[in-house]
This record gives sequence, C-alpha cells and structure tokens, in this order.
Amino acid sequence: MRIAIIGLGYVGLANVAFLAESHRHELVAFDTDESKIALLKKGTFPFSENGIAAILKKEAKRILFTTKEQELTGAEAYFFCVGTPAQDDGQADLHYLENALAMVGRVAQKGYLIIRSTVPVGTAKRIQDDYSGFRVISLPEFLSEGSALEDESNPFRIVVGARQEEDFLFIRNLRKNDLNRGVPFHEMSNESAELCKYASNLFLAMKISYINEMARFAETLGADIVDVADAMGADPRIGHAMLKAGVGYGGSCFPKDGQALLAQAGASGTSLLLSEATSAINRTQPLYFLKKIEKYYPAMKGVRIALFGLAYKARTGDIRSAVSLSLTPHLLANGVQLSAYDPSPEARANYQKLFPGVKVVASLAEAVAGADALLLLSEESEFASLDEAFLCSTMKGRVIFDGRNLYSVHHFRYFDYISVGRANGTRITEIKP
Ligand code: UGA
Repeated sequence: MRIAIIGLGYVGLANVAFLAESHRHELVAFDTDESKIALLKKGTFPFSENGIAAILKKEAKRILFTTKEQELTGAEAYFFCVGTPAQDDGQADLHYLENALAMVGRVAQKGYLIIRSTVPVGTAKRIQDDYSGFRVISLPEFLSEGSALEDESNPFRIVVGARQEEDFLFIRNLRKNDLNRGVPFHEMSNESAELCKYASNLFLAMKISYINEMARFAETLGADIVDVADAMGADPRIGHAMLKAGVGYGGSCFPKDGQALLAQAGASGTSLLLSEATSAINRTQPLYFLKKIEKYYPAMKGVRIALFGLAYKARTGDIRSAVSLSLTPHLLANGVQLSAYDPSPEARANYQKLFPGVKVVASLAEAVAGADALLLLSEESEFASLDEAFLCSTMKGRVIFDGRNLYSVHHFRYFDYISVGRANGTRITEIKP
C-alpha cells in the first residue's frame, strides 16, 4: 500500500518508522519544514527519540521524504500527524490540520484520511462532511515522547473511530499483527475515539495532580508522599503509574489537551470539575515549589542557583510547557543568577533562545561550579546519581531543591534537602568531606 504520513514530529516519525519496519508499504513522509526534510534525506534525525533513527536509516529506500504536495498523489491512506497546539483561549488550533487536508484535497479525490492528531470531538465528522469522497478514520495515538516507537509498536490498545465496517476492516488489516497477537481493538464512533484520547490524557494528568495535591497536604501533616504513593499504587485498581509527586506535568500534550477539553466543554455549557481542578493544581504546583526556595532564601537577590532539567521530562529535548519555563521568570525577577543545564543540546538551545540572559552550560560540572543551590526539575538519571563529594568540592552553598523526589530524604549528609510532599532533610554537618 502507498501511505502518506503528513507532519513529521515525534508522532509522525514514529508512524513512518513503524510502517517502514513492517516492509508492507511504500511510504511518503511529508513535512512543510524544508530543513527538517533535508536532514531526514541525509539520514539525520531532527530530535532524539529511541530507536527511530536506526530504522529510518535502515529502511531509507522505502521512504520518500518530501515537501512537495504532488508526491502525495495516489496514496491509499493519509496519516495526519500534525500538531494541534493551544490557542490563547485554550481551543485547539486546527490550522495545520486544515492546511494538510486542503493539500490532500488538491492532489487526490479518494482514500482514507486517518486522523492521528489530537482533535476536538466532532472534528472527524466535519472533515467527513467537507471531504465526502474520502473516508475519515479517527486513530488517536497514545505515544509518550522518548518511547514513541515502542508505544506505537506495542500498544496497550488500538482505538478506532469510524462510521462503516469497511473502515474498521481497513485498520484491522493495517494492524493485523496486533490483532493476531491479541492487542485489544476498541472500535467505536469517531466522536467516541476523539473523546477517548482526551479522556485518557486527562485521567493520567488527574492522577498526577491528585498526588501533587496530596503531597502539599502530606507536608502539613508530617506524612511522606513517596511512602503514601508507593502503598497506594500497590493496589492494582490504583496502580503506580503517574503517581510521582513533583513540580507538575509539562509537555506538548497534557497541558494543551486539558485546555482544549475545557474550552470545548465551556463552549457547550458543560462543567468538567475534575479536569478544571487538574489543570488548576498543575498551574500552581511550580509556584508552590518556588515558595520553598523563597522560604529558604528570604532574600534571593544574588543567589546563584544551578538549574538542572530544562526539558519537560527526562530523555527528551522538548521544552514545551516545561516547568523550567514557568519557574525561570520568577527566579530572575527575584534577582537569582541561574546557570542552567540539561543533557539534551536541543533543550539547552531552545531554552537559551527564550532566556538569552541566562547562562546555559553544556555540563553538569560547569553548572554547579560555585553555585549556592541546586534545583532539580526533571528525572534525568544523571540527576538521580549525583556525587555528593563532588558537589561539596565545587558548590559554594549546601542546599538541594528536588522537584522530582529523586532521593530519599536523608540521602545527603552535607546538604539541606528540600523536596515535594516530604519533610526536609537537614545536613548533619558543615564540614566538607
Ligand atoms: C503523554 C501521555 O503519557 C501519552 O500516553 C500520550 O499519547 C501523549 O501525552 C500524547 O498525547 O501525545 P508525554 O507528554 O510524552 O505523553 O509524557 P508523559 O511521560 O506522560 O509525562 C508528562 C508529564 O507528566 C511530564 O512532565 C512528567 O514529568 C510528568 N509526570 C509523569 C509526573 O509529574 N508524575 C508522574 O508520575 C508521571
């Protein structure tokens, strides 16, 4: 089958890699970004994502990377993997999707329009009305950045929204290996599939906000949220996933999907109380953590803080809605001198563009040299295995603010340790080891 994939972010490229590896299809991989396509043609992957680069290189002869819309002609299926970012009013911005659809409409008269982008409920129906010669299938993706290919290749479930039996058959055939090995297929209306994507993301986000709210409460009670979450998660009805308290969730999905769902609910006169609370808790979580820093340093002017973790989570270079972005302006407004570090060069470069005045460095050692305090904002393994003796030898101050609870409270002997939803750890001595 000739399949076109439109929009080559991590979702689009995970789809290209997955389909290429099956050796069943001829693929056209389209993006409007000329520089990205030039890199992909050379075999260079534009961002770090487990496993995808190797497959794209190996299967290069099956994939036509292009910016030319004429190349899309003759495909049986068009996968739409373009972004649907939040507009100022929270609603999903569909203009990338609309442009992509219009382009396909110019070069083809029929085929499957497969919507992988996260779109407001009712979008597929509108597309079907506008493009009546095509069949519109909603196939929401459930990929996490960093494990996108693995999640696409080994899904927990496949959710298909369509109107006719032949549309479901098309996806069953496309994903027949999954069907044969018992991956559950959930077939439903387009509207249900669209809502399933939002409801799933909001549920995961709600778990995070729930444990973050409990973390704040735990502190006032003298309880330890890590112990609480460990024991809660042992009940399989609750589960451990998404129960790590911290500085809140970021990324290109949870925050904007929450906004989009709330905007759509608002427009239809529906209140989504849990979704509202989920977003509100997450908006205030970085500020709650900032208060801890302010409490420790009533006068923050001139304090030198090494900020670790610019990306929204570990093992990605993506800084979209990262907590680093919401905290940095507050720290700078308080007169803090930051030295910022992330293992990802992409995260460092993009953060630097937003905060040209901040010193961004390429190594952990450079960031901590002479720092008064260390602030951890993501769960990188490099941050979870800090060498205390080294920190003592290079840092001026003796405090670690851990926004991800990477250590046990009494792990550090020579540093004050302040984390989320737990008692503070106090250094045992001033003496350097
Ligand atoms: C999320 C979902 O997990 C995917 O299932 C979904 O397909 C994807 O959005 C999407 O809509 O495309 P992603 O944003 O890549 O994937 O990242 P997650 O690993 O879910 O993490 C999101 C945020 O939550 C990160 O900032 C992370 O640090 C935070 N988090 C995660 C916590 O604070 N606590 C946790 O226990 C787990």
